[in-house]
Amino acid sequence: MSIKLYYTEEYLQEYALTLASIVPDSQVVLFDAAMIVDEQLYLLLNKDTLLLVSSLFKPFDLDLFYNEFIIKRKPGLKREILLQAINLRTGTDELLEALDLTAGLGRDSILMALAGFRVTMLENNPYLAIILNYLSINFCAQLKLTVQYISNDKYLQTNSQKYHVIYFDPMFADGKSSLAKKDMQLIDLMIKFVSDSAFVNNEEVFNLAYAHCLHKLVIKRDNKQRCLIPKPDPTYVKSGKTIRFDVYQVPS
Ligand SMILES: C[S@@+](CC[C@H](N)C(=O)[O-])C[C@H]1O[C@@H](n2cnc3c(N)ncnc32)[C@H](O)[C@@H]1O
Repeated sequence: MSIKLYYTEEYLQEYALTLASIVPDSQVVLFDAAMIVDEQLYLLLNKDTLLLVSSLFKPFDLDLFYNEFIIKRKPGLKREILLQAINLRTGTDELLEALDLTAGLGRDSILMALAGFRVTMLENNPYLAIILNYLSINFCAQLKLTVQYISNDKYLQTNSQKYHVIYFDPMFADGKSSLAKKDMQLIDLMIKFVSDSAFVNNEEVFNLAYAHCLHKLVIKRDNKQRCLIPKPDPTYVKSGKTIRFDVYQVPS
């Protein structure tokens, strides 16, 4: 399915093309309100922001979303359970590399980037890939983020790079996830519009990820869920009120 990114002014075309270039078969089109008939979900670039527009909710302003997220979470990084779970000290000054296997809206990637990691975000949904491309370009002054539009199993099978930390926030078997409701509704909507996402075996992804991991493989779970795989047990677990992070330490 080909998705559309509209732009509101001629001079935004080049930027729109850059954003959409991550999804090879996407279309970049000059916005004309009269042309938008039956368009149920699309991205709209204007001079101030990128919007996710749908008939089901009011336009979702991504620049505002990311700015608010960073302003709210940056001062309390030490309290972030994800970062407490990662708690990585290598004893060297080398730049730490993290791989986010299921980047979604990129919120967890942002937290890791704010903590100093260079983060590679993987996402197999085309709307989200363009949104994450916008995030990585617009916020490059404060966050080291790159994005790849690819299924995580394919990436791990074809790429030999190793990462200090690999992070996995899988969808539930029923398609839902451990994200808060409002954010997940948006992700659900984008997934619903792209029906051809192939099924990926979480255990296979776990094993591939473990082989690419230098230090810690961190998996987000709802507290009511079992571990992603029956064995091995996590090395340790960091729990919050409703979610937890299962951490698998890779022997050095
Ligand atoms: C639970 S959400 C992740 C939310 C994310 N942690 C955040 O902070 O916004 C899971 C994401 O993984 C993506 N996804 C699912 N299967 C994938 C796969 N095989 N490869 C890459 N991304 C995948 C979905 O499209 C969805 O955006």
